[in-house]
Amino acid sequence: MDMRLPHLYIHEVLLLLFLATLISQASPRILCSHPLQTRTSESEKPTSGFGRGVNIGNALEAPEEGAWGVYIKDEYFRIISEAGFNIIRIPIRWSAHAEEKSPYKINDEFFGRVDHVISKALEQNLTVIINVHHYEEIMLDPQGHWERFLAIWRQISEHYKNYPKNLYFELLNEPHGALTSDLWNALLLDAVKIIRETNPTRKIVIGPVDWNSVHSLKNLSVPDDENIIVTFHLYTPFEFTHQGAEWVTPSPPVGRKWLGTEEERKQIINELDIAAQWAREHGEIPLLLGEFGAYSKADMNSRVRWTYFVAREAEKRGIAWCYWEFCAGFGVYDPIENRWREDLLNALIPKENTYYVSAETEHGEITGSGWYYKGTYATIKLKKTEFDSLIPITFDHFEGLNLDKDIILDKGTVKVYVDGPREVKAIWRRNYTKLAAVLIAGLTIGALLFFCFKRLKRSKKRIKPDIFDAGV
Ligand code: GLC
Repeated sequence: MDMRLPHLYIHEVLLLLFLATLISQASPRILCSHPLQTRTSESEKPTSGFGRGVNIGNALEAPEEGAWGVYIKDEYFRIISEAGFNIIRIPIRWSAHAEEKSPYKINDEFFGRVDHVISKALEQNLTVIINVHHYEEIMLDPQGHWERFLAIWRQISEHYKNYPKNLYFELLNEPHGALTSDLWNALLLDAVKIIRETNPTRKIVIGPVDWNSVHSLKNLSVPDDENIIVTFHLYTPFEFTHQGAEWVTPSPPVGRKWLGTEEERKQIINELDIAAQWAREHGEIPLLLGEFGAYSKADMNSRVRWTYFVAREAEKRGIAWCYWEFCAGFGVYDPIENRWREDLLNALIPKENTYYVSAETEHGEITGSGWYYKGTYATIKLKKTEFDSLIPITFDHFEGLNLDKDIILDKGTVKVYVDGPREVKAIWRRNYTKLAAVLIAGLTIGALLFFCFKRLKRSKKRIKPDIFDAGV
């Protein structure tokens, strides 16, 4: 019997396996200049909580849909679902579409519009959270709006009682002002009772006062009900996330970065830990980070770092989240170009084996920031390395390089090896020679003029008596 044949096969199989391994290791390099393609695998998806979502903000919670620049297009839900999100939070200003006086009827046409939006979201198998958003009047006068608020919820509950169970009700966005925790605890209990008359098991989302702050969780009374989810919002540090926000007075100055220093991370971890700890002490109530995001006036590198950090830390604690928001001022999607802002999207739903490379400079422009596959190179390039003026600024070196692996191509260009998140900063040098020369020249001319002037004065003084003498 010839024993060589099986051996031959084994060798061929081994050779094929070896080649396959080589190819799979080489492929990230090939992909490096292309848009990233694969998203997180099923196994990496958060196991607890109910997932990853986005708010369709600035649309139905504006005084009229479209008034704040966002009109919800049907295709948004497919786009959102295909990107890997499984929750959609739809903020709604019902109070602008309900009568002022009893029976506080909600406008039929508005209901029809919300029905349509919900049905498009449900078609994509998204978990849909509808809320009462921007009910500003109730924050000023809770007692005066008590009945109206309940009447609004009675109508919403009746209207959607036969909708699938993945439609959730969130009672009220960011209670604050005169709606103190005592009043809010009583009001939310009344609202839950009303909802339960028609929707015995639908998920109801409630959150604490002070704009859904984690620090007020301790004052929230949770109704004895198995289908409650507790929400909170996170915009810390506010001076970073709301820099330049027109609706905040005074608006925090633009230019604040989020670098992910230990202190910056601690602030966020602290808030998430407060929430997680509180949930544990309250029978493992499911948590939803219903809003977090950084306004577009912050720089993209900082926004990506912050967003990635918050989302991952929430997931580590089993907290589901909804990014604020889809396509307006905080937008993860560009509604003009009809495409995702990939850097932000990847911060929310990371593709496997990708890391963010951020390139920073205080002067001019720098390219190369973005998400890259592990094992590839990011080319970081300064557009200009010299700026001429009275004090010329010259590029000196890049900080944050690993010279064992990174490759300097020319002055101002470096290929950075991606073996983890990388941060590279251009360091500049100011050249004072020109200024010194100008100053010396100026001083010399000044001194010369001064002496000339003095001499002239002295000689005039000497001439004057002669003239007088002549006249006498
Ligand atoms: C809250 C507000 C919303 C605002 C967001 C970020 O949800 O209701 O209007 O855009 O926070 O500030």
